[in-house]
Amino acid sequence: MANDQPRCPVMTTAAGVPVADNQNSLTAGPRGPMLADYQLMEKMAHFNRERVPERVVHAKGAGAYGTFRVTGDITRYTRARLFEKIGKETPVFVRFSTVAGELGSADTVRDPRGFAVKFYTEEGNWDMVGNNTPVFFIRDPLKFSDFIHSQKRLPDTGMRDATMQWDFWSLSPESLHQVTWLFGDRGIPATYRNMDGFSSHTYSLWNAQGERFWVKWHFKTMQGIKCLTQGEATKLAGEDPDTHRRDLHAAIEKGDYPKWRVMVQVMPEKDAESYAIHPFDLTKVWPHKDYPLIEVGVMELNRNPENHFAEVEQAAFEPGNLPPGMGASPDKMLQARLLSYPDAHRYRIGINYAALPVNRPRCPVHSYHRDGHMRFDDNGGRTPVYQPNSFNGPVEDPSAKEPPLRISGNADRYDHWVGNEDYWTQAGNLYRLMGAEEKQRLVGNIVGAMRGVPHAIQLRQIRHFYKADPAYGEGVARGLGIDVAELKAA
Ligand code: HEM
Repeated sequence: MANDQPRCPVMTTAAGVPVADNQNSLTAGPRGPMLADYQLMEKMAHFNRERVPERVVHAKGAGAYGTFRVTGDITRYTRARLFEKIGKETPVFVRFSTVAGELGSADTVRDPRGFAVKFYTEEGNWDMVGNNTPVFFIRDPLKFSDFIHSQKRLPDTGMRDATMQWDFWSLSPESLHQVTWLFGDRGIPATYRNMDGFSSHTYSLWNAQGERFWVKWHFKTMQGIKCLTQGEATKLAGEDPDTHRRDLHAAIEKGDYPKWRVMVQVMPEKDAESYAIHPFDLTKVWPHKDYPLIEVGVMELNRNPENHFAEVEQAAFEPGNLPPGMGASPDKMLQARLLSYPDAHRYRIGINYAALPVNRPRCPVHSYHRDGHMRFDDNGGRTPVYQPNSFNGPVEDPSAKEPPLRISGNADRYDHWVGNEDYWTQAGNLYRLMGAEEKQRLVGNIVGAMRGVPHAIQLRQIRHFYKADPAYGEGVARGLGIDVAELKAA
């Protein structure tokens, strides 16, 4: 029927040859058998290859395009041109996600949310690959895959399992701050529009004079924070498992563009040596009284993707995409992420992932990378393929060099959680910040999640809660029917 409509284009094969019949396979006689049907084979073969591997984490997500506009002057901290003047606009693509679930999982699970922003700056892409939480579960990247395995599925039953989650967390007390966050009200945002974003890690900025500053990025929702209770989330997971995707898409379609105030905490490079809180520890926040939030700009999302696979699935973010004036930090988690993401993209999408439309910088790219699977641009044409060369090939720009970073210490595998490390104070502070009802919900959520976990693991975890705040530990113990005296008899 479609071909009767005059404005429809003619259907073709992948090679552009017109298709005469897309409803009936080529057979000998009306009852078969089939003959070599090129068109059928092309269709089936393409279908069999439609999937790329889903992201190993953050598989389920939603994305949108928008704009970042500078509203505050931070040129004293950075030479990055995207911040060079008030009112300057830079296009962005954002992908929000849940972490542990697979592509088809429900949006309303209790899980951190990914908050990844690609700024297409004139000096190359800046990818701010953050979460909706200011801290993380671990602080040594060697533990990342173990942590994620504990959140995924059991090898025998293929099911998720509270015992392995609490086993890992209870043996990794550095997770306590994030666990308290996760089981509190903000553990299930009502929508992607109603949550904040954080770089969580410390990054750096450097200015034209070569001075470096340590920074943490904050994206404050201008829609207000809204969360779901466990009951609301469970119900929605059945009724509308794509609710976060649906909400973001619908809001943008009707012109109700979500916005975030972009802010930054700035620590002069020298302060890092004496600040009481380890500045490169991803399990800690910097209190705002020490390093207040400085306004930088506003991010607005105002355009939905045309094609989910091409734009959202193929989006490839990397914390190492940092234009001149911005840098990483010695945080070893971040250092590992600088390597892990491009490696994941090479596997998941292919070596030329950066040239795909959603990932391609909006400024000229002049690298000496050539060839590889699915090279769909001009592959550098006839320009030189090596450097240095005498034939006007691209050359380095020494002004893009980061200021040198002084490092010290013996190379060793340093124990990441004994010694002076304090994993309890900030978790306790977060608990004490909550009102009575939120504390109750926090304890209730934890009790619900720990039911059925072996007693020894429960006890080990509750002792961490107790150490953060006795009322916190006692609340969970009581909820699980554990004698508080047993808790104290460590
Ligand atoms: C996705 C590794 C910690 C935020 C991913 C992916 C990998 C990964 C392999 C999938 C990438 C892809 O296939 O496209 C790691 C490692 C970590 C780590 C090794 C620690 C050592 C973190 C932290 C944050 C974070 C601390 C937030 C502060 C994200 C986000 C995505 C992601 C938002 C999804 C990006 C998107 O929307 O495509 N991570 N991750 N990760 N990670 Fe991490």
